Amino acid sequence: MQLSRKPKRYGAVAQFFHWAVVILIAIQYTWAWRIDETEGLRARFELITQHKTIGMTVLMLAILRLVWRLFHAPPPLPKHLANWEIWAAKLGHVALYGLIFIVPLSGWFYSQAAGYGDYWWGPISFPSLIEASTAAEDFFYELHELLVKLLMAVVAVHILAALRHHFILRDDVLKRMLPQWRK
Ligand code: HEM
Ligand code: HEM
Repeated sequence: MQLSRKPKRYGAVAQFFHWAVVILIAIQYTWAWRIDETEGLRARFELITQHKTIGMTVLMLAILRLVWRLFHAPPPLPKHLANWEIWAAKLGHVALYGLIFIVPLSGWFYSQAAGYGDYWWGPISFPSLIEASTAAEDFFYELHELLVKLLMAVVAVHILAALRHHFILRDDVLKRMLPQWRK
């Protein structure tokens, strides 16, 4: 019998990227809410700076993650899935990969258009790629707002799909994205 060389689960690095991005994105929504709730100018500025730093970190992780992914194929989906389910999963993953790039990019461009640029862990910053203007500021703000809503919607479907696999189809799709505590 020939043993399959395909992995059965996501490796530690792929899992690290997945869950680190999940945690940082959850923080981003919480921070956006905190910014809205905060009155003082200085406190708001601090929170926005942290929001930018965390967002630019997501962008860095997304780049590293995509490079890693190009060289490490994911485990194949279970055989019992219908064609449409396989395509839906692929489409969902492509959309999520796209969103973890364009959501931070839209925030960064919004910030540049508003004349503030980015912030990344204090003194480190990236070059400004566009001229500041009110028209660009309005455009990128609307875009950032729209994309964060889209991300929320796609993530909600993604979570429901993961839970469906675990509780209804009772396969190992969720488990293989979780650390394996016992052999
Ligand atoms: C994964 C990455 C990110 C997520 C999930 C995210 C999410 C959000 C959310 C939910 C809001 C509130 C939108 C609203 O008011 O309706 C927001 C606002 C904002 N974001 Fe992001 N963001 C990300 C990355 C970034 C980055 C990288 C920057 C800039 C470098 C940025 C800059 C901003 C700014 C300036 C605001 C407006 C804050 C305010 O004045 O209320 N974001 N973001
Ligand atoms: C911000 C939130 C999230 C994002 C951006 C995200 C993104 C992704 C992406 C891009 C993949 C494909 C990985 C690859 O093939 O390289 C993936 C897989 C996966 N995610 Fe998420 N995810 C999020 C939240 C969650 C949550 C909360 C759960 C658990 C309830 C979850 C469970 C899974 C599982 C089980 C897989 C593997 C699916 C398979 O084996 O085909 N994800 N996720």
